[in-house]
Amino acid sequence: MSFKPSSFSSSSFFFLLFLFFFFASHVSSQACQKTCGQIPIKYPLGTGSGCGDPRFTRYIKCDPDQQTLTLTTHTGCYPITSVDYAKQVIYVTDPSMSTCACTRPSRGFGLDWDAPFSFHDDTVFTLLDCSVDESPVFTPLSNGTGRVSLCDRQSSSICTFLYSNCRAISLINLQVSTCCVYVPLDLGPSFEMDLRKLRCSSYSGFYNLGPGQEPHPENWNYGIALKYKFNVFDEYPVVCGGCERSNGACGYNTQTSSFVCNCPGGINTTSDCFFLYNSASILLPWFSREWVMYPLSWVVIWTVMSLPQRS
Ligand SMILES: *[C@@H]1O[C@H](CO)[C@@H](O)[C@H](O)[C@H]1NC(C)=O
Ligand SMILES: *[C@@H]1O[C@H](CO)[C@@H](O)[C@H](O)[C@H]1NC(C)=O
Repeated sequence: MSFKPSSFSSSSFFFLLFLFFFFASHVSSQACQKTCGQIPIKYPLGTGSGCGDPRFTRYIKCDPDQQTLTLTTHTGCYPITSVDYAKQVIYVTDPSMSTCACTRPSRGFGLDWDAPFSFHDDTVFTLLDCSVDESPVFTPLSNGTGRVSLCDRQSSSICTFLYSNCRAISLINLQVSTCCVYVPLDLGPSFEMDLRKLRCSSYSGFYNLGPGQEPHPENWNYGIALKYKFNVFDEYPVVCGGCERSNGACGYNTQTSSFVCNCPGGINTTSDCFFLYNSASILLPWFSREWVMYPLSWVVIWTVMSLPQRS
């Protein structure tokens, strides 16, 4: 009786299969998700406590059941529609804002003073149905001869359009003088869009309303664009780049706030996850990083292993 190659092959096949399921089952147990619904999650965003940058955790969360990413501020919860990681912009919608399809009473939108993001200079707000006599956006002149507006007069074409051509808004039949367009950046971070205080009943928010776009409402994007920075120098942390390249998710220790790389399998390191694949390649010489990461290779291995053995 000699050594039987077929029994060796089948046992190593089962070993590989075990390893595959070991990794596959542990990938899903990674504490920090790399997507939330359709939205990819990368640093500095995270899907929950211990994930991403600690400054963002209070404001941005992924609902584990609904798989929706939301922004929370003192004025409410807002669905995040997309994130442009290259431009460092988060796009949110506000279900209480008015659009051409529907007008809604709203309380407004505000960012917390200590939030790690600010309005992107692309964001334009339009206050609708403001009280001309009482709204502080139209402040009385000190000599009492009229009121001066804080609104952007050059963009009043947005008001004209909304009040005349926009079906839902034109239906309420308002005076264009009750409309106020402004760029939140111009009025400063302390300017709070509290519609009760501003004596306006509703608002619309747009982004990407670049020069020449005002007469093309079909291209307007309803929503709010928020800009974020990584840190004072706005540098992407090098250690996080390595972590994400090795299929990890950047996170932090909830007690110390120090950097943690959350690897597939739920293992945490202070650098990256490459050691996982390196230790695997010591176990099995033909095992390379890519083979662990691309299950397609396992189909190839499986096919080779399951070929009828020649004796
Ligand atoms: C790994 O880090 C994540 C995110 O910080 C945390 O939720 C998890 O509990 C940590 N796991 C271990 C085993 O420490
Ligand atoms: C009131 O003040 C405004 C701006 O300061 C000025 O333009 C206007 O002429 C003043 N009106 C009178 C009557 O002084």
